Amino acid sequence: MSESSTQSEAIGLGMIGFGTVGQGVAQLLHEQAAVYAARVGRPLVLRQVAVRDVGKAQAAAAALDIGLDPKMFTADVDAMIDRDDVAMVIEVAGGLAMRGPVERSLTRGKSVVTANKSLLAAAGSSLFATAREHDAAIAFEASCGGGIPIVTSLLFGLGANRIEAMVGILNGTCNYILTAMTQRGQSYDAALAEAQEKGFAEADPTLDISGRDAAEKLAILASLAYGIEIDVDSIPCEGIDRLDLENIALAAEMGYDIKLLAIAQRYEDGPGDAVSLRVEPCFVDQDMPLSDVHGSFNALSVDGHATGVTTYVGHGAGQMPTASAVVSDVLNVANGWYGQAFARLGAPTGRTAPVVTDELKGRFFVRLNMVDAPGAMAKVATVLGESGINLSSILQHEAAAGQVVPVVVTTHEVDRSAMDAALAKIESLRVIAGRATCLRVLDFED
Ligand code: HSE
Repeated sequence: MSESSTQSEAIGLGMIGFGTVGQGVAQLLHEQAAVYAARVGRPLVLRQVAVRDVGKAQAAAAALDIGLDPKMFTADVDAMIDRDDVAMVIEVAGGLAMRGPVERSLTRGKSVVTANKSLLAAAGSSLFATAREHDAAIAFEASCGGGIPIVTSLLFGLGANRIEAMVGILNGTCNYILTAMTQRGQSYDAALAEAQEKGFAEADPTLDISGRDAAEKLAILASLAYGIEIDVDSIPCEGIDRLDLENIALAAEMGYDIKLLAIAQRYEDGPGDAVSLRVEPCFVDQDMPLSDVHGSFNALSVDGHATGVTTYVGHGAGQMPTASAVVSDVLNVANGWYGQAFARLGAPTGRTAPVVTDELKGRFFVRLNMVDAPGAMAKVATVLGESGINLSSILQHEAAAGQVVPVVVTTHEVDRSAMDAALAKIESLRVIAGRATCLRVLDFED
């Protein structure tokens, strides 16, 4: 094939953003060019990269040393999208401000590959409609779980299933912090600083530690699994900022690890289905596979009615894992099959999911600060008994009489609403100091 015919048959790519992930994408496209050309049947050529700061991007490109032409960087994102020789747009800039450029690309019939979970969680339904209207596709594997192909698995590999439940570790920063606290006894603040240094955390790390980042990913995955539109703000979401080393040590003593989990459960609600969604720190039995997912790794366990549980584990954040997901999407779109599948994807249909937290039963860990005095435990036990809550274990360490000591109980299955009502009564007892900690327990009974 002559050079000119190769170029005329090439698929031109435009990219928005040249940060950590964008540079990883450029590197993969350069290093694996021949392999990708063979997989697609035509070369993929990065024509232009739109960035806010052209000088900074040019310096980063020079440092990468992969022969990127400094002239390929531009601040004019619209002109880049409109180029005739750009057939597909990669959006790795992130943030809700990307809605305009993504819509512009789609309305010009150009498919978009994006890692932008916030944008999809906020406007996925409308963007999907725009894409379909203009015969374009949106591919978004990189938006959830970094390099793990969980979107592809859920949509295509598990397409034969009704999804009963999904349980995921979907935020690498939180998992990194919890692992550092559990395995190295590191303080929360030191572990967060380390996760930021390693580049896992969002620019605003409160998105990670508040659980919001995991909720956005859960909204995307659940909308695909259940074909419903989900308002991410309606997902009950608790982060890891209230956890301390004492909770983690108590969990370990009882055979559990604490993990921030994103949970979706389908249940029958009269004639129709309903879905319960939540993000919360949970006690995970150390015998369960999810408790072995450490550091910045992510995992998703999917319970399909025909497959049973399958679990996907891998790097949930970081440059090359995320770039891998982006470039794999580019290949799938370039190959044509993804666009065809996208037209009928089980994605937002306009049906809104009821997001329910209280109806579903669970087991709970409760930590109380109790005055070590005669009858104190009996008072707590009375409230629990009157609320119909059955205890499965109790733990109290030796303490001097009259001191406040942590007392831990775990329960058998109970409604969350019954648990919360009982906790409110317990916290008002004179023998209890401060607020109770209550975390869901995930084990083989759940
Ligand atoms: N801040 C995210 C995380 C990056 O820690 O998982 C990947 O979305």
